[in-house]
Amino acid sequence: MADFVGSVAVFPNNKKTTAAEWVDPESALAVARHEFGEHGGVNMSIEASATFTVMEPEHLRQMFAGELGAGRDCFIYSRHFNPTVLNLSRQMAALEGTEAAYCTSSGMSAISSVLMQLCSSGEHVVASQTLYGGTHALLTHFFPRTCNINTTFVDMRDHEMVKEAIIEGKTKVLYWESMSNPTLTVANVPELCRIAHDKGVKVMVDNTFAPMVLSPARLGADVVVHSISKYISGGADIIAGAVCGPASLVNSMMDLHQGALMLLGPTMNAKVAFELAERIPHLGLRMKEHCRRALVYATRMKKLGIKVIYPGLEEHPQHELLKSMANQEYGYGGILCVDMETEEKANKLMNYLQNFTQFGLMAVSLGYHETLMSCSGSSTSSEMNSKEQELAGISPGMIRMSIGYSGTLEQRWHQFEKALVRMQEDGLFKRI
Ligand SMILES: Cc1ncc(COP(=O)(O)O)c(C=O)c1O
Repeated sequence: MADFVGSVAVFPNNKKTTAAEWVDPESALAVARHEFGEHGGVNMSIEASATFTVMEPEHLRQMFAGELGAGRDCFIYSRHFNPTVLNLSRQMAALEGTEAAYCTSSGMSAISSVLMQLCSSGEHVVASQTLYGGTHALLTHFFPRTCNINTTFVDMRDHEMVKEAIIEGKTKVLYWESMSNPTLTVANVPELCRIAHDKGVKVMVDNTFAPMVLSPARLGADVVVHSISKYISGGADIIAGAVCGPASLVNSMMDLHQGALMLLGPTMNAKVAFELAERIPHLGLRMKEHCRRALVYATRMKKLGIKVIYPGLEEHPQHELLKSMANQEYGYGGILCVDMETEEKANKLMNYLQNFTQFGLMAVSLGYHETLMSCSGSSTSSEMNSKEQELAGISPGMIRMSIGYSGTLEQRWHQFEKALVRMQEDGLFKRI
């Protein structure tokens, strides 16, 4: 495992979930430390304090010197460590099978702070050309301007291209999304980790699209990041993120002099951490149903002659690869893409699906109980210019659908078919 500099031994190890016996995310969560409430409540109490008192004046000095810390239940200030956020972080570490984790105020802050921790001015990132638009913009525009950190974008399926893009000594991070937004491309995690590690490069994977389904750290990735705002929250009501990785990385990010989380301050609020910790126990159940329905709908859509992209379909180019890497019984992801070829047709279909048949909602984001639909090229990937979108494989008529689980499967399918009949009547779709 990679070593990260600047660590202070303050992060408590999540011993039960880091041992070799880690089997799958749900089993790991079941044996992770359960925090009880102050009065014996089955749910933990919320530690809402921003600052913490000490019994001995000497303790403050020891805490600031890094001799005493969260590992021994000593807290300084909630931008550093907060017990309630720490508890959610333990769950995230169990979920991803990493030694440690820490939660942040958004997915973007998790991504940007890890990259800033691992790269200094003048250093380099190799990243997938198919990324969430915000991450793509961060790497293309923001980091070169503000930090002199530059990125080469590559096709993660082309391992020669990845090797060639790595500049030994200068490239610090190889970055991709476990299931890419929005094209649902799946990269070979063990093989790419081998390529990166051979050249001394750290591997960072955004697992936002596939919690439970894929566990990139168990396949060799050094750091896994999440936008908790999506599946892990599930409520479309909270913006949050997480960094999962070695304790030395999390500790280095909390360093008083050099830590990106400590010094940039993308802190999660304890009340938010409590809310999220209550949702993680049913993440597995939710994922299974999102995935089950996505597979059924993708299969039926294909039969109707719709151009559908879904990694659970045998014809998907990485179907076998995904199967070989995925945790058992969670399925192939809860997102599918329908390619309507033009933005006009895509908009028309989404309009019928929301305003005529109530199949889903026109909204960005994912992981909600309702189906959420957006035309990626003009929304969540609009930061990319048309050439970049073409390289990423995003067609102008691509609708990303995050398949929900409310209502019955057949009721929702009927709503989908009804909208399709409207499209047929308009001469915009032909059933096979
Ligand atoms: C794959 C992926 N990563 C990261 C993010 C950013 O997360 P957040 O909105 O929580 O900052 C998003 C947001 O859409 C995303 O889709």
